[in-house]
Amino acid sequence: MHHFKYKNGALHCEDVSIRDIADQVGTPFYLYSTATLKRHFQAFDSGFDGVDHLTCFAVKACSNIAVLNLFGQMGGGADIVSGGELFRAMKAGVDPKKIIYSGVGKTLAEMREAMYAGILMFNVESPQELDRLQDVGAELGGTARIAFRINPDVDPKTHAYISTGLAKNKFGVPAGEALQEYLRARDMENIEIVGVSCHIGSQLTQIEPFIEALRKIKVFVGRLEKEGITIKYLDLGGGVGITYDDERPPHPSDYAKAVREELADMDCTLILEPGRVISGNAGILVTEVQYTKVNSGGENDKRFVIVDAAMNDLTRPALYGAYHEIIPVREGGESMEQVDIVGPICETGDFMARDRMMPEVAQGDLLAIMSSGAYGFSMSSNYNSRLRAAEVLVSDSRFQIIRYREEVEDLLRGESISALG
Ligand code: LLP
Repeated sequence: MHHFKYKNGALHCEDVSIRDIADQVGTPFYLYSTATLKRHFQAFDSGFDGVDHLTCFAVKACSNIAVLNLFGQMGGGADIVSGGELFRAMKAGVDPKKIIYSGVGKTLAEMREAMYAGILMFNVESPQELDRLQDVGAELGGTARIAFRINPDVDPKTHAYISTGLAKNKFGVPAGEALQEYLRARDMENIEIVGVSCHIGSQLTQIEPFIEALRKIKVFVGRLEKEGITIKYLDLGGGVGITYDDERPPHPSDYAKAVREELADMDCTLILEPGRVISGNAGILVTEVQYTKVNSGGENDKRFVIVDAAMNDLTRPALYGAYHEIIPVREGGESMEQVDIVGPICETGDFMARDRMMPEVAQGDLLAIMSSGAYGFSMSSNYNSRLRAAEVLVSDSRFQIIRYREEVEDLLRGESISALG
């Protein structure tokens, strides 16, 4: 359920006409609904009511500080994977004691910053990372709270690029080696073992892989207990999928129910790192049709709708062949046509949709690329020296620009002409 609906033939975000926003802000822009963001956070988080838990929004999904601030105000924490995300989470007012740091390649500088900030826990992904963290702890005269991220070797049945829990993926420490690492960590002066974590992949549409991973983690926690190591936090990562097209992912409450049943006999605080399931359907990308054209000469005439958003704005179709529903902001008429919706970038891979049946559109029309609130703006780039889009947040009948559209000067920030002769 989201708050992007037609009213009198015009697409609205909550009570604001999207055409009105476009007239004031220009296109393309990302548009988020406060009501949807809150609703999705609440729907996810409340599934764990009555269980000691912490919902740490995966910052990489939607990193704008206005969005992070919203979840922080709702009691949420943050799952971060870089010094940049730490900076964002802190600026957004997220309580550092609710920040989890994941990722295989944390640098020394990033570890120092996170230690200094006093985050809740580092999810350690290799023996060398543990050693480095011990050194940082000693250097700063503090203790790093850690979990190991266990790679449970479970097939999440999702796109290969976003599967992370298979033995062949770069993530985590294999369960077989992790025990030894916990024993090593136990003897380290500046390390405190507090948890176990795992994250098996993203856009999962079935519950079973989560449960399969959880069972393996439970067995592992049992082994730790035998060694006298008790766990305070069990971090299950993120990964619950959403509907882009005709997927039928589990409702967050069903996911929560299954997890709770499986964990009934465990006494620890549950940590969750949802991203997409919270922000994915709470955001859209609004773009204007620049041209329509027909390229004939092939087997069939090919119709193109050329818009002002491109793969630098929303990279998911180009990168994963991902499907995003695209609808006209002025409700479409009866007449349909099959088109490719493409951007201005000089690559054939620059498409938003291919061979899509759409109501006929014309130059100047606005289109809404749905389900773009996760891994949309946060994956955008300046490729082709395009200015990154604006981000806008709606609440009821008002809207606010939460990130201005870049200007050409932004493109050159930090660049200089060589003085080397
Ligand atoms: N925790 C960790 C350690 C992660 O690596 C991720 C996502 C999450 C949580 C959040 O997963 P979610 O709940 O959003 O599925 N760019 C891709 C998705 C990459 C996901 C990377 N890790 C896409 O556009 O589909």
